[in-house]
Amino acid sequence: MSAFKNPATSTLLDLVKSRRTYYGLKAESPISDDAIQRIVEDSVLHVPSSFNTQTSRVVLLLKDEHKKLWDLTIKVFEGLVAAGHVPKEQFESSTLPKLNAFKAGYGTVLFFVDFESLAAIKEKFAIYADKFDPFATESVAMSQYLVWLALEAEGFGANLQHYTPLIDEEVAKAWDLPASWKLDAQLVFGVPQNPSEPAEKQFQPLESRFKVFGK
Ligand SMILES: Cc1cc2nc3c(=O)[nH]c(=O)nc-3n(C[C@H](O)[C@H](O)[C@H](O)COP(=O)(O)O)c2cc1C
Repeated sequence: MSAFKNPATSTLLDLVKSRRTYYGLKAESPISDDAIQRIVEDSVLHVPSSFNTQTSRVVLLLKDEHKKLWDLTIKVFEGLVAAGHVPKEQFESSTLPKLNAFKAGYGTVLFFVDFESLAAIKEKFAIYADKFDPFATESVAMSQYLVWLALEAEGFGANLQHYTPLIDEEVAKAWDLPASWKLDAQLVFGVPQNPSEPAEKQFQPLESRFKVFGK
């Protein structure tokens, strides 16, 4: 068995193992809004980015502002149904119940990338120019994971959603966000309320995914 020098390492890995996806959420919080904000702020500030470009942008929506996001998303889908882009039956039986389940949560963290802020560094390091956009997406994903982990450590359940680009325009308008903030993902959270969650998870054998040499 591996022995760690620092007990925090075991604690961290235990948190990693227990982070799961929860869809059944209620609009309650085990911690203060300030504590939630601190988790998000630390995850924005201290997660690394390539060349320290700090391209991630984040918006924390709580309670009514969170509901506003999912109402806005429902409206966008109703427009798609009316225009014939989404079948009404599919919307009513599948999409709407999902969106209402998100709305029943306590908050949503919106994660964005400011790709435009990379213009100067792309010119300066032309040889890496095509790498900066994917690096920025990787960096914002790290923040998503950290917020997800920390919220669940505090007793929340969360799920990660991607309703971009469908809701981009409405989101920017609703919270008056800079045009250069490109929406990447939405992390929905609340107190878990479905005893059957988390669902059982299958793992591919680690041997097919990991190798070690020189041990
Ligand atoms: C990059 C990424 C994108 C994901 N996108 C979605 C999504 O759009 N909708 C969703 O319900 N879950 C999404 N998930 C959640 C995964 O389906 C989920 O994490 C995976 O099935 C493992 O389950 P677990 O989170 O319970 O460990 C995403 C997860 C990752 C890492």
